[in-house]
Amino acid sequence: MNAHTARVLHAGQVAQKVSAFYERHPYPPPVDDLERYRKLWNDARRRADVHLFWPDENYRDDRSILIAGCGTSQAAKYALRWPHARVTGIDVSATSIENTAMLKRKYNLDNLDLHQLPLECATELGCSFEHVVSTGVLHHLPDPDKGLQALHDVLAPDGAMHLMVYAPYGRAGVYLLQEYCRRLGIDTSSQEIRDLAASLSALPPDHPLVPLLRNSPDFRDEAALADALLHPQDRAYSVPQLLDFLAAAGLNFGRWMRQAAYLPQCGALASTPHQALLNRLPLAEQYAAVELFRGSMLRHSAVAYRNDRPKHDSIRFDGDAWLGYVPIRLPDTIVVQEKLPPRAAAVLINRNHNYTDLYLPIDARQKKLFDAIDGKRSIGEIAADSTLRDTARVLFEGLWWYDQVVFDTSRC
Ligand SMILES: C[S@@+](CC[C@H](N)C(=O)[O-])C[C@H]1O[C@@H](n2cnc3c(N)ncnc32)[C@H](O)[C@@H]1O
Repeated sequence: MNAHTARVLHAGQVAQKVSAFYERHPYPPPVDDLERYRKLWNDARRRADVHLFWPDENYRDDRSILIAGCGTSQAAKYALRWPHARVTGIDVSATSIENTAMLKRKYNLDNLDLHQLPLECATELGCSFEHVVSTGVLHHLPDPDKGLQALHDVLAPDGAMHLMVYAPYGRAGVYLLQEYCRRLGIDTSSQEIRDLAASLSALPPDHPLVPLLRNSPDFRDEAALADALLHPQDRAYSVPQLLDFLAAAGLNFGRWMRQAAYLPQCGALASTPHQALLNRLPLAEQYAAVELFRGSMLRHSAVAYRNDRPKHDSIRFDGDAWLGYVPIRLPDTIVVQEKLPPRAAAVLINRNHNYTDLYLPIDARQKKLFDAIDGKRSIGEIAADSTLRDTARVLFEGLWWYDQVVFDTSRC
C-alpha cells in the first residue's frame, strides 16, 4: 500500500466514523416545533440578514440556498424563514435528513429539497447556489480543504458563503478532555456519556473546561456533550489558519458575522496602551492579535465570497459614500437607559456578543441620530444638518463596528 492509498483509506475510515457518529447522536438534538423560530423571522430580521451578506444589492428574498451539513433542522429553518427562496439541504446522516423531512412535511415546506449526500460531492447536485451555509461541519471532515473547495465550486459568482468553524484557544479545555477520553477508551454509548457527564462535575474549578460547562449551550445535554468531547474528528482554526483555509479554496474573507469581538477599537482593548500598535497592523493581523488577546473564542463565524467575484465596494467612512448608506438596525440589539456611565444617554448592546466589554455608550446628540434610524433614510438624510456630519460619521462607524447596524448601500 503506498502513502496515497493509505491516506485515502484513512480519510474514508474517518468519514465513515463521523457519519456513524451522527447516526447515533444526531446534532443538534432533533426538534419538531419551529413555531418560535417562525415568529422570530419577521421582515426586519430578513432585511438585516440580506444586507449583512450583500450590502450593495437591492433586497431580494428569493435566492437559492444550500445548507451543507444541515443536521436535524437547519435546512427546514432556512426554508421557513425564506419562503420565497429555493433551499437545498444535504447531510451524510440519514437520521438528520429524516428529521428534516418530517419538518418539511409538518410545515409544508415546498421550497425545500433534501439529499443524503456528503458535501464533498456537492457538485453532483448539478447547480450553483447564491448562498451557501455550512456551520459546524467542515472541522469534522477528514479533509476540510476538499470540502471547502467543493462548496466553493457550487457557490455562484456573486454568491455569499456563511461558515462556522471551531476556534482553538477557547476550546483548550475541550481538547484536554477529548484526549482524556481517548486514553480511557471511552466510547459513545449512553451509559459512557452519562458516566462522563457525572465525572465532569468533579473537575477542578480552574480546569479550562469549567467556564464552557457553565456558559455554553454545547454541553447542555447528552448529544451536545458527545458532539463536543467524544467526536471522532475535530479540528479548530485560529484566525490566520481560517484565512489561509479560505484562500486555498479560492475564497476571500468578507466579514465576521459579528465583528466587534475581533476589532481592537471595540471593548476593553480600546483603552489599553497597545491601541496605537494594534491600529498599525493590517486588518487580518488585527483580528489575529485580538483573538490571542481575548483567549477564549470558541468558534469563528465568517462571510466569504469567491475570489473571482465581480468587484464590490466595502463599507468605509473616509470619502463621502457613507452619507448614502441606509442604516438598518440589527435584531437582538438592545438600548439600555438605566445605570448609565457619565455623559451617556444610552448604552447599546448586541445580545449575540459573548463578551461583556462589548457595549457602546452614546451621548444625547448621538442618541437623537440613532433614534432617527428607520431603515429607509440614508445617513445623509438623517444628518441633513451639515453641522451634524462629524457626529454622524463617528456614531455610524461605531454602530457598524459594534454590530448595531448593517448598511444598505445599494443606492450609493
Ligand atoms: C454539528 S452538526 C451541525 C448541523 C447544522 N449545520 C447546524 O449548524 O445546526 C454537523 C452535521 O454535519 C454532518 N456532516 C458530517 N460530515 C459531513 C459531510 N462530509 N457531508 C455532509 N454532512 C456532514 C453531520 O451528519 C451533522 O449533521
